[in-house]
Amino acid sequence: MIIHPSKFLKGEITVPGDKSISHRAVIFGAIANGLTEVDGFLMGEDCLSTIECFRKLGISIEVRPDNKVYVYGKGLYGLKAPDDILYTGNSGTTTRLLLGLMAGQSFASIIDGDASIRKRPMKRVITPLKRMGADISGQDHDNLAPLTVKGQLLQGINYKLPIASAQVKSALLLASLYADGDTLLTEPEKSRDHSELMLNCFGANIRVNNLDIHSSPVSELYPQHITVPGDISSAAYFIVAGLIVPNSEITIKNVGINPTRTGIIDVLTSMGGKINVSNIRVLNNEPVADITVTSSSLTGTTIEGAIIPRLIDEIPVIAVAAAAASGTTVIKDAQELKVKESNRIQTVVMELSKAGVDIQETDDGMIIKGGKPITGAHFESYNDHRIAMSTAIIALMAGSNSTINGIDAVNISFPGFFETLKSLHK
Ligand code: S3P
Repeated sequence: MIIHPSKFLKGEITVPGDKSISHRAVIFGAIANGLTEVDGFLMGEDCLSTIECFRKLGISIEVRPDNKVYVYGKGLYGLKAPDDILYTGNSGTTTRLLLGLMAGQSFASIIDGDASIRKRPMKRVITPLKRMGADISGQDHDNLAPLTVKGQLLQGINYKLPIASAQVKSALLLASLYADGDTLLTEPEKSRDHSELMLNCFGANIRVNNLDIHSSPVSELYPQHITVPGDISSAAYFIVAGLIVPNSEITIKNVGINPTRTGIIDVLTSMGGKINVSNIRVLNNEPVADITVTSSSLTGTTIEGAIIPRLIDEIPVIAVAAAAASGTTVIKDAQELKVKESNRIQTVVMELSKAGVDIQETDDGMIIKGGKPITGAHFESYNDHRIAMSTAIIALMAGSNSTINGIDAVNISFPGFFETLKSLHK
């Protein structure tokens, strides 16, 4: 893929459905009694992996044109033993949430994924699940896929999560639906709360008090009509592009603005970004809005602490914004980046360096001295969708053309990314 520098970007776009919400709509729909209808489903490879896994668990799922999905849920105890491996592809969310769900079933299953999934730590989910009574074994002392889960009777737990992780929290909430007694989870910092919000729509009994999440088992979940908002993590590329490419104005319609996900808006606004959020409404407990950005001169900032889980997936493209900003940006407390689809501290530093950015890797993040001229480069995606899209955005600012190797990775979360970019590119 060749990316040409852009003189300005203008137009109104939508982005595909939220990845986290799409996964959850299928998973919760599968264990509710009856038909869950999902509109605006993300037809990205990760969410399609979730659909395939649930088909293997005996759930009939129809995928219709126009991003509609029908999940014929069979109730909390209606899943069947799979006669094949549950293959989760590149999807950490599918892998970890399935571990939690499979732990309390009356059958055994094997969960495996691609080369990147096989490197990602699963102990963070397996340790607390074992405390609930789960029987899970795998490579590297039960840390890495492929993983075998022998369903067990589970007990509720009180557990303080050592890291702020929505995947760990959601796996434990799924297990809690099958446990004897209540479960109390305490997060160190607030991570995305789509599971809590959506499970309650389905009739679960989850109460949230700041960092405490209390789940009591219920006898049944009820099917829902879920409308998935646009993914703010996908909108992020165009938010940054509209701010850093001169003379630009971009409106992104129907974007989810759940406060546990809007760290990028807070940070870019504090850097001087002109971002207007309008037309706010609520769909299935989730706030949704239109976002308009106009070119802005940005200044560097420090990003650390409690905001990190609210923007963890956006750090690669925030680093692009920092490269275009004047002054220094320091990103700290982001060691979780090392265990994403690629080691994103390393891959961001390697790729932005190729474009002439003054960027330095640290133990828990990076330091970017912005404002240096950006040059065209030959970028690599490392099969990481967010690296592929971030390099495309920095390439818009370069003095000459760039190429990106491995662009198919964008299909994980944003099929049509390059077409959308082209529609704005003037
Ligand atoms: C996700 C949670 C986050 C995020 C991932 C999606 C989810 O991961 O990075 O892209 O849907 O729950 P962690 O829970 O590992 O922080």
